[in-house]
Formats: sequence, C-alpha cells, structure tokens
Amino acid sequence: MTLSEADTRAQAPQTPGSEWWRTAAIYQIYPRSFADHSGDGVGDLPGVTAHLDDLRDLGVDALWLSPFQRSPQNDAGYDVADYCDVDPLFGTLADFDGMLAGAHARGIRIIVDLVPNHSSDQHAWFQEALRAAPGSRERARYMFRDGKGENGEEPPNNWESVFGGPAWSRVTEADGTPGQWYLHLFDASQPDFDWSNEEVREEFRRILRFWLDRGVDGFRVDVAHGLVKQAGLPDYTPDPDAGSMGGDEASVPYWGQPAVHEIYRDWHMLLAEYDGDRALCAEAWLPSVAQTALWVRPDEMHQAFNFEYLETPWDAAHLRAVIAESIATYSGVGAPTTWVLSNHDVVRHATRLSMTVEVPQGYGVGPQTPGKPDYATGVRRARAATSLMLALPGSAYIYQGEELGLPEATELPDDARQDPTWFRTHGERYGRDGCRVPIPWRADAPAFGFSETGASWLPQPDQWAALARDVQTNDPDSTLSLYRSLLAERRARGLGAGGLEWLEGYPDGVVAFRNGDLTVVANVTGGTVPLPAGSVVVASSPLTDDGIPADTTVWVAAD
Ligand code: GLC
Repeated sequence: MTLSEADTRAQAPQTPGSEWWRTAAIYQIYPRSFADHSGDGVGDLPGVTAHLDDLRDLGVDALWLSPFQRSPQNDAGYDVADYCDVDPLFGTLADFDGMLAGAHARGIRIIVDLVPNHSSDQHAWFQEALRAAPGSRERARYMFRDGKGENGEEPPNNWESVFGGPAWSRVTEADGTPGQWYLHLFDASQPDFDWSNEEVREEFRRILRFWLDRGVDGFRVDVAHGLVKQAGLPDYTPDPDAGSMGGDEASVPYWGQPAVHEIYRDWHMLLAEYDGDRALCAEAWLPSVAQTALWVRPDEMHQAFNFEYLETPWDAAHLRAVIAESIATYSGVGAPTTWVLSNHDVVRHATRLSMTVEVPQGYGVGPQTPGKPDYATGVRRARAATSLMLALPGSAYIYQGEELGLPEATELPDDARQDPTWFRTHGERYGRDGCRVPIPWRADAPAFGFSETGASWLPQPDQWAALARDVQTNDPDSTLSLYRSLLAERRARGLGAGGLEWLEGYPDGVVAFRNGDLTVVANVTGGTVPLPAGSVVVASSPLTDDGIPADTTVWVAAD
C-alpha cells in the first residue's frame, strides 16, 4: 500500500473481539537483569515477585518473561536443556507458581517464552543423539547430515549462523572417528530440532500443556519463522546488511517456510482447549508487514511482534506509512497490531532513535561504533516515540528499563561481554549485551538496588544512578512518571480498543491522528508546531509558549 492510499481514509477500530491480548500493554522481563533476590548477580523469579506491586503501579496488563527454564546459559537461557523445569539460577517451580499467583492476584497476566527451534546441546535428547548412530531415531530429532567431500569433511551446505560463523558443527562418533554434522542456526550449543519429525511435535504439545496447566496466559514463540527448513537444504548466502535475523531478505531457505504455519494451527487448537483466552505471540523477523501478518491469521497465532515498526526511523513519513499499513494489514486478518520499540535483541530506543549511522539488528553499539548520539537527544526522542506508540490502537510491548529512559550501555568493557555473537564474530559485532544490563532500582544502593550484594552479571554504567527508579518515582517530569501517565490514560480511555483517524492540515514532519476523543500530535519536524485546541493530557517534553517543540508528542483531549 502507498502512503497516500493509506492516508486518505480513516482506519476503523480493528478489534473484532474483546480478548485481553488485543489491547494489552505487555512488559517484557529479562529475568537475569530485572531484580536479583539471591544475591548472586543474576536476577531471578523471587526478584520478579518482590516487584509485582511496582509493575501494577506502572499500569501494565501482562508480563512476558524471557527464558528461565533449565539451561547452561550459553545464550542467556535461549538454549534450553529442560523445558519443564526452572533453572536453579532463577529459582524453583514453586517460585514460578508463587510469581504467577502474585501476578494474577494483581490482575496481571503472564506470558512465558517458548524456544522450539532449537534446544541446548545439554538437552537429554541431544546427548542421546550424540551417543546414537547415524540414521537412528535419536538423531532424527535434530538436523544431522553427512558432510560433503571425500571423507565428509565439509559441512552439508554453506549456511551461516545468525551469531556468525558456520551453521554446522561436526560430531565425533562413539568409536572416536569424525562423524556427521548437525545444524545450528544460532550457537553451536543450540542444535536445531527437525520439525518434520512427529516425535518433536508431540514433545512440544506436552511442553505447552505443562505450562498451560500451571496457569500461564500465553507464550512468546522464539524464532517462530525458523522451525521448518526448505527441503534439500539448498546453499544460501545472506545479505550482510540485512541484520542477523534475516529481516530484510525476500527468500531464505530457513526463514518463513510455508509449512511452518501448520505447526501454529495445531498449537492454536491446543490453546483453545483451555479457558481464559490463552495467546501465542510470534517472534518472526520477516521482510514485510504483509508477511508477518500470515502468522496471525485467525487459526494461527494471536499476535506477532511488529518489527517493521520497531525498525522505522524517527521520520514522520515513514512512521505514518508503517502505522497505516500495519493497521490495515493486521485488521485484514482479524488480528490486533502489536507495537514495540525495544527488546533484549535490539539497541535500546533511547539510543537507537538518534544514532547517525544505521546499526543492523544484532550488531550492537560499542566503544568504536561511529554516530553515537548524546543522551539528551536520545531520551527526548524515546519519550516522544513511546508517547506516540501508546496512543495507537492494538497491543504494545515495553522492555524493562525503557520506563526509566535507559540508554544502551555502549561502553561495556570487552572482557565483560557475554553474547555469543561477540565471540563467534571475534569481536566484529558487539552483540546484544548493551541492552541487557541489570536495571537500576535505588540510586544509593549496591548495584543500584538490583542485588543487595552489589553483584551484577554485566557492569552497570555509573551514570545510571541518576536514572534509578527511586529517583524518578516522585519526580513528575521523569520518564517513569511519563510512562505511568501514558499507561493510565491509555487504559482509562480504552485507546488499545480504539481506532485511528489521520488528521490533515499539519506541517510535513508531523504525525497527527485521533483515537476516540484524543488528538495525538508527534512533532518530528525539527521546529515548533502549533498546539491543537483542547486540554493537554500528556506531553512527552515541556510545551513552550509557541506550541509543541521538536521531538515531542502531545495528547490533547477535546474540551
Ligand atoms: C531469539 C531471541 C534471542 C535468541 C535467539 C535464539 O531471537 O530473542 O535472544 O538469541 O532467538 O534463541
């Protein structure tokens, strides 16, 4: 759709049903960096439970927790060794149940991460596969293949790992000889399952039921576009500028294969057996909004992350186009649009939105990256961008720490880094550690209140003292206060279930629309623009006598 087509008409409410996930504000918890109750420097589930009141006061409807299941933590838990247990690093199953009950008691739903593309190499199945012979039932659960070359010494094809380096590793057979190769789209410690194998499908039905029976409200499905690989595993060379997850590329033999949709149709029916509108959200990096919408057709997943929106530059024409296209496309399949600006895989938007160079997803920002912005510009734009996002109809995701205005930690020392991307590219890509640093709770406490012992698995920048939650709590101009106001007004006015009507007559460089009786104006022009008539409900930065200054979003209610 072109911008002008999308622009010329009002966009109707997009919510045919009243299920909670159509409109929810969902807060992503990255457990290892949220709050550390045990004092070992890694956040945990009791840490989450201890802060449930803070999350209720923030005004979010649901929490999505990144993985806390048993794992050797080679990819921060996205390498799962036992899908139905809690890693001791994060607590116990009883701690999980306590956290879930505490959240539900406060009216907050819980979404857990499900990692079906690959397991850890420490998973019992992979260990069995290593001991078993080529061609065995045990090997058939993963993607084992003979190598090419006279003695099978070359990998089966040329695929590259998302984290850099080859996507194949060779095993040593039980008799000590060099043997088959296995596929790992990510780290060598994350072998890919073979989803053409019914035994794998059955195992994941069991895992879904395990968590549904415990009362979870849904799943965020990791690498949802990757489970099925093109038959014959043809060679493929990625575009180096496309970002690690292949988001810009049209046809990739391991992303977005049509047969993957069958799996989600099956899961849709399984979830429908349960009460309470349980939901599936796809992490699928695809080249267009239209392709992502295939994941949320009525009998598939309920939501998909709108990464197209996340990747949109701070530019009015681009923003209008992606918003219009998203609402039109998702409502065309009866799904809500999701909106998201930050997560644990991308540069935090308080830094990203004012970078002067483009950073592909997964590369990160470090000491040597050019184009780093000053914090004042970054956080000003981030506040304006979030104020725009939370006014849109649909569901919105917030990543822990963005409510404090946290920037990316861009000066982490090399020896602190932990992302496998950093190691597999030999330091060529910084990776994602900079958005994963433990968040500050109290300015004057050890580790800024993240951990009573002062331990922190990644070092926190000293400047974060000024951003600690306790400093912001009673400051009406703080980013935390802004988020609280936005979320409270969004809920009170039912904006998630609302509609969007574009407003004309504003200067170029302004994004202006109406949702219900609220007029929303985001000023991306660089200059000041007039304030519309009515009462100001929220402004992302102070207004001036002349109106709305640059990089500011304002919500105005009709008098
Ligand atoms: C997803 C996760 C990311 C992880 C990868 C492999 O993209 O969000 O953190 O490294 O999958 O599981």
